[in-house]
Amino acid sequence: MIPTLLAAATLLASSSAHCTRPQLIEAVNAYLTTQTTGQTAPFTSRFDNSTWLGYFENSLKTNISTSILTTPLPITFSRSIYDTTSCATFTEVIVNSTSVPHVIGTQLRFTNHKINKIDTIITKPGDWLFNVTGYALYSPREPWTPIPTSSRDSRTTLKAAADAYLDIFNSPNTTVPWGIPCVRLEGGLYGDEGPNGTCAGFIPTGVPITNRRYVVDEEMGAVDVMVDFGASRWPDSHEFRVEGGRLRYVHTLTHCGRANCGVGNGTVLRV
Ligand SMILES: *[C@@H]1O[C@H](CO)[C@@H](O)[C@H](O)[C@H]1NC(C)=O
Ligand SMILES: *[C@@H]1O[C@H](CO)[C@@H](O)[C@H](O)[C@H]1NC(C)=O
Ligand SMILES: *[C@@H]1O[C@H](CO)[C@@H](O)[C@H](O)[C@H]1NC(C)=O
Ligand SMILES: *[C@@H]1O[C@H](CO)[C@@H](O)[C@H](O)[C@H]1NC(C)=O
Ligand SMILES: *[C@@H]1O[C@H](CO)[C@@H](O)[C@H](O)[C@H]1NC(C)=O
Ligand SMILES: *[C@@H]1O[C@H](CO)[C@@H](O)[C@H](O)[C@H]1NC(C)=O
Ligand SMILES: *[C@@H]1O[C@H](CO)[C@@H](O)[C@H](O)[C@H]1NC(C)=O
Repeated sequence: MIPTLLAAATLLASSSAHCTRPQLIEAVNAYLTTQTTGQTAPFTSRFDNSTWLGYFENSLKTNISTSILTTPLPITFSRSIYDTTSCATFTEVIVNSTSVPHVIGTQLRFTNHKINKIDTIITKPGDWLFNVTGYALYSPREPWTPIPTSSRDSRTTLKAAADAYLDIFNSPNTTVPWGIPCVRLEGGLYGDEGPNGTCAGFIPTGVPITNRRYVVDEEMGAVDVMVDFGASRWPDSHEFRVEGGRLRYVHTLTHCGRANCGVGNGTVLRV
């Protein structure tokens, strides 16, 4: 009797302390509706204004009433991951439009089952390797399907894989659990999809990646990390799909606000 009661009490406590996937999905749907319509009310009604931490666009605190959310965008594809432990979500939003091309990454954070922080990285022509046609072509066709329960990686493994990738930019001796193949979608440029594709190329050294904010989804085997990229602290999102502890897909979004981040003369695509 007592153990049963205890178990029931524990269950109640944890269900009120944590978020559920359906709740998080509903909030993300409200976000997507708002971005599609430009009407913020369905979204702002889900805010917890008493614990509000802010709405950030490319790392700058922004007034929602003058934000990108008030511009209706014809979203052509989105993919979301859900962190029921931290109560957070990440959504990749592709607007494959010739007039308003965008790829946006948005993290929502929750308290009391309501949104209290929004972090969004907005990329468009001029940002690092930006190519919306590439993003729209390659992202949707990757099979980010739920990982079978029996082969899910732990949060610790997922976060460690993401951190290893980010660490190697400043600590070249880091051991990264590269998958074979691993393919990177970087601004819109795609890597080698073939059986031997690798994400280990084109990684510079001496680039600190700081201020990491994580969303971890064990069911999707995915981690998004929003960061300050390099000494210039470019607002950046790195999203990883991990299979069997190894990096399978990497999606990057980097805003720098000047042509190709000031690298080369605009025709140089790689550092
Ligand atoms: C939170 O504040 C915003 C204005 O900053 C308002 O539009 C919104 O309705 C408020 N949300 C709630 C749930 O009170
Ligand atoms: C945000 O902008 C609206 C409309 O311009 C204004 O009424 C409101 O006071 C602003 N909020 C803040 C916190 O500056
Ligand atoms: C953008 O990506 C598409 C699809 O890979 C490719 O055909 C096109 O050449 C790319 N555009 C530029 C400017 O690189
Ligand atoms: C993206 O938009 C371009 C230009 O309208 C179009 O040619 C291309 O087919 C679109 N890509 C996808 C995957 O729908
Ligand atoms: C990294 O590895 C190289 C080659 O094994 C070694 O010479 C170097 O001392 C190592 N650097 C650090 C910081 O451990
Ligand atoms: C992939 O690597 C294996 C082992 O090195 C090699 O045998 C095979 O030919 C490679 N395949 C391709 C398509 O490069
Ligand atoms: C831009 O840089 C590339 C590679 O360094 C070079 O080949 C090209 O001539 C440069 N173009 C201009 C207009 O300076």
